[in-house]
Amino acid sequence: MAVGVFDSGLGGLTVLDALLRRLPDVPFVYFGDNAHTPYGTRDADDIFRLTCAGVERLWAEGCDLVVLACNTASAVALKRMQETWVPADKRVLGVFVPLIEALTERRWGDNSAPREVAVRHVALFATPATVASRAFQRELAFRAIGVDVEAQPCGGLVDAIEQGDMILAEALVHSHVEALLRRMPRPEAAVLGCTHYPLMEEAFRAALGPAVKVYSQPELVAESLADYLGRRPGMLGPGRQGSFLTTGDPQPVGNRATLFLRRRIAFDRA
Ligand code: DGL
Repeated sequence: MAVGVFDSGLGGLTVLDALLRRLPDVPFVYFGDNAHTPYGTRDADDIFRLTCAGVERLWAEGCDLVVLACNTASAVALKRMQETWVPADKRVLGVFVPLIEALTERRWGDNSAPREVAVRHVALFATPATVASRAFQRELAFRAIGVDVEAQPCGGLVDAIEQGDMILAEALVHSHVEALLRRMPRPEAAVLGCTHYPLMEEAFRAALGPAVKVYSQPELVAESLADYLGRRPGMLGPGRQGSFLTTGDPQPVGNRATLFLRRRIAFDRA
């Protein structure tokens, strides 16, 4: 009954943590493609190829259902994967839709016409590839009208987090927030559209100020997966055991994961 969780590196651990809290009886197999991180500066074909390879590895672990806990892969590769590659007995889900449903106050399966919503000015922080894909704006336009989105590609931030350089990461958060606020001085909401960014959530909140509501994905994704599994329990795969896999060097990857989640995490080579 295992479920796979995929990310380009360590960011998906923020989602995994929320999944483990919400679904404590489900074994999760985590796959971090640390050898190829960051994805956010790669082209679409590369992101598609790497994401498919990671998902196949998770299928081999008995995870018929894989959550792409990576906005870059969800934004750039997921649609193509679902349309051309995922077999009928497997599922790959992304992290964008739960976030947009929360922002537009919709429930799953609400396919009514786009309508006006409470928020008008939304700041999006994401990787360069996610911003360039415009997937966030596309998904939002299916559900809401009249929402102005200002997107800030946060170059360098994933790299700094992956390397554990939190001082650089904090400085980058401040300069990216400042750059966005120069273009949109008063957003009502800010979306942390990369699963690495919840690790810097305090820095984002401090730089944005108390008037901005910050949407962070982990809890939203966990709630959405719990709802999905309630409706589709058959998608729990045959795998029985949770584990952590990486394409990088398991020792340093495990050390950084342990620091981030504040509990001992040991990775195996994927
Ligand atoms: N954490 C990922 C995301 O949500 C990927 C970041 C990257 O590899 O650039 O976008």
